[in-house]
Amino acid sequence: MKNCNEIKSIMFSEQQIQERIEQMAKQIAVDYAGRRPLVIGVLKGAWIFVADLLRSLELPADVDFICASSYGGGTTTTGELTLLKDITMDCRRRDVLLVEDIIDSGITLSRLKDMMIERKAKSVNIVTLLSKPSRRKVDVDVKYVGFEIPDEFVVGYGMDYDERFRTLNYIGVLKEEVYK
Ligand code: IMP
Ligand code: MG
Repeated sequence: MKNCNEIKSIMFSEQQIQERIEQMAKQIAVDYAGRRPLVIGVLKGAWIFVADLLRSLELPADVDFICASSYGGGTTTTGELTLLKDITMDCRRRDVLLVEDIIDSGITLSRLKDMMIERKAKSVNIVTLLSKPSRRKVDVDVKYVGFEIPDEFVVGYGMDYDERFRTLNYIGVLKEEVYK
């Protein structure tokens, strides 16, 4: 979707996102040269990012998805992680890349990373398109960050507010009246 009159401002355009993804894919290809990572996208928000990142990545990669939620439909985290859908592939002895749309408190990713380590992955690294460092509640090591952003709630490019706006092809900030 290209237009939406409920968006107050565009934070990253489609072109800015694609340029940054190309750079991230190049770095990952260098770091993982000769390996075949198991890319695990965190649903639902990361679905578009995974698709674009992997099509830019000049490396063979396997892909799976996990669905975890620490949100109840609003804009603040509850701190509790619910695993709604697990991966179907075996991550033992694999180089796992956890791919996320946005890291906020860090709770989701730190739990998922621990889970993959417990399951005997050979290595686990995190890739996120966006990060809000000022909101971090737990310390989590994020190897690849697309953009660091201020503490603002964003939607589009896979990310939602109450399941809306995921199909926007840019990342934007909502008008205040949408939250009412
Ligand atoms: P964390 O566990 O607090 O790091 O939560 C990360 C998850 O919260 C992300 O994967 C998103 O699904 C959601 N989230 C955090 N901030 C935003 C935002 O600004 N817009 C949309 N979703 C967000
Ligand atoms: Mg997410």
